[in-house]
Amino acid sequence: MFSNRNAVTLMIDSGVGGLSVLSLAHQRLPEEDFIFYADAANAPYGDKTPGEIRELLHNILHEHEDRQVKAILLACNTATSAAAKLLRAELDIPVIGMEPALKPAVLNSDGQIIVMATRLTIREEKFRDLLSRYGAGRDIVPLACPGLMQLVEEGPLSENTEKYIREMLEPYSGTMAAIVLGCTHYVFLRPLLEKNYPHVRLFDGNDGVVRHLKTVLDEKKITGGTGAVEIRCSLPREDERNAYLEKSREMLAFCSRFYTME
Ligand code: DGL
Repeated sequence: MFSNRNAVTLMIDSGVGGLSVLSLAHQRLPEEDFIFYADAANAPYGDKTPGEIRELLHNILHEHEDRQVKAILLACNTATSAAAKLLRAELDIPVIGMEPALKPAVLNSDGQIIVMATRLTIREEKFRDLLSRYGAGRDIVPLACPGLMQLVEEGPLSENTEKYIREMLEPYSGTMAAIVLGCTHYVFLRPLLEKNYPHVRLFDGNDGVVRHLKTVLDEKKITGGTGAVEIRCSLPREDERNAYLEKSREMLAFCSRFYTME
């Protein structure tokens, strides 16, 4: 389907969440070329069925058939849970996916771990597997957060976002030691969470996925490019698309704040 030389990595998310992955990937792999595709017209993914998400991803891949794509990075935990296995079986290029950072949280924290993710991610086999591999003997609370991705899209620092987080985490405020940000949108909540829960350690899967991308590109000998980043989105109207792209650039600048420190 896709040629895999001198080509780009196609990153896909339902919205701005995956920009946190793009930000880190562009920083760590400055010579690589990326297309970032935000399927904003079909967001949120977290409330859809795996079948619906697979169909949406097939449409996105179809739309990029005339581009030279060397790897797919599902910069979305939900899409990974719904479709990574299937896409790996269908495509002859690498398909890289996200994973809630439960393993690093288990290894690097004592006490209760809250895993914030979409409903679909929490329900699917991938997360159940992770729990049975790393969760034994630990107090782990899977916390589905419907509506939170939309709040992040509207403003990751807004009062509404802060209110949602406080209400959601209230029952655990005295017990939690770590939070796993199991949706790429929630990575943008870092500043709010650090402010409200300074004693709680935060873990996300972005470092792991970018390392994995590098390993795969190296192993397949398909590294290299010009450092170009193209952001696209599925909104049908041009004015909406332009506004979304403008917002995306702001979000990218926002997340470079919490990644340049590492
Ligand atoms: N950013 C996505 C994730 O990592 C999902 C957000 C959504 O569309 O529900 O799970």
